Amino acid sequence: LDLENISIHSGFCTPFKSFATKAIHVGQEPEQWKSMAVVPPISLSTTFKQHGPGNHTGFEYSRSGNPTRNCLEKAVAALDDAKYCVAFASGMAAAVTITHLLKAGEGIIIMDDVNRGTNCYFQRIAVEFGLDVSLVDCSKLNLLKAALKANTKLVWIETPSNPTMKVVDIQACADLVHEHNKDTVVVFDNTFMTAYFQRPLALGADICMYSATKYMNGHSDVLMGLVSVNRDDLYERLKFLQNALGGVPSPFDCFLCNRGLKMLHLRMERHFKNALAAAKFLEANSRVERVIFPGLPSHPQHEVVKRQCTGCPGMISFYIKGKLEHATTFLKSLKLFLLAGSLGGNESLAGIPAIMTHVSVPEKERKELGITDTLIRLSVGLEDEADIIEDLQQALAAAVSIRHPTLLLSH
Ligand SMILES: Cc1ncc(COP(=O)(O)O)c(C=O)c1O
Repeated sequence: LDLENISIHSGFCTPFKSFATKAIHVGQEPEQWKSMAVVPPISLSTTFKQHGPGNHTGFEYSRSGNPTRNCLEKAVAALDDAKYCVAFASGMAAAVTITHLLKAGEGIIIMDDVNRGTNCYFQRIAVEFGLDVSLVDCSKLNLLKAALKANTKLVWIETPSNPTMKVVDIQACADLVHEHNKDTVVVFDNTFMTAYFQRPLALGADICMYSATKYMNGHSDVLMGLVSVNRDDLYERLKFLQNALGGVPSPFDCFLCNRGLKMLHLRMERHFKNALAAAKFLEANSRVERVIFPGLPSHPQHEVVKRQCTGCPGMISFYIKGKLEHATTFLKSLKLFLLAGSLGGNESLAGIPAIMTHVSVPEKERKELGITDTLIRLSVGLEDEADIIEDLQQALAAAVSIRHPTLLLSH
């Protein structure tokens, strides 16, 4: 850690040992290639020659196993301090494959505030296959406890949740579920925090999954899902399902994601620094109603965050004062932040979840969750801090210039 960053980490968990070294070296050993290539080659071949019938190198057919994918899976497992990792074509391909661990009639609890893809899959597709899906605010342990049923076989949690940034106590949740039934699979979607800031497996989760489309790849140029596990039985089954269902990533995408991971630690440090500065700026601005950033003491679960994380990513949600038109003007006025969905890339992005990423979430549910028309979600990128703040400042000024009684009173 450099001196500048010590203060932003104070109170958080100690950074994971040898993280950068693992990100750069594990799974990348030149000795695995005849050429001794330092950078893993992109292995495009779909099939592999066998020495004799049934006598192969460990690779037979690219859906079952691919050398480039192998490098990535080893690297991710190391970063999660896990025994295994299994890679998928997208976060959703990972979710669907994990759900195939269940049989019709079995129960799934999902966090009430999850990204739209996960919400749509569980609520509109999984239920059609006879799975008993219920939505619960898992940040409240009493609600989770009350929702656990005899048939509950999977609990699916995002922390922080998207977009309202609710934080779940991973250890407490995993313990509660496992006390109810030790075989119930507890999944934590670690997309927002990444392996650099949070390790759900070490806190009792059975599965740690990612939409690597976001921070893990980090360059907004790959769709990918990653799943880390320690349990041998889960790994065997997921490996079987990965091959049988076929939602695997391309070797080229594996190469890119593997490359993206090598600077994960540097990227996440910078996301944290920039986001903390932006969150503090927004919190002090009179045009902002409320800021939700897990790294700020004002976040309701800030103490839990400090207890289970080494820092925070670049995700900030905030309510702008006024109505939808103020939020829209703010977004249209941004010059550096790009108006786009997704998150976790180098570039700063901004959006209004209610009419963009979460439009498919039923309106009633959105209201209950606080996904209102004035809720703005930022993915703070890696640009210069001063430019980020300047952009937010000028866009807030543009938004306030719209007539609105509350705003006119305060300005
Ligand atoms: C937290 C989270 N999990 C899972 C997903 C789904 O992943 P993908 O888009 O890679 O399929 C997303 C996508 O937005 C996400 O934000």
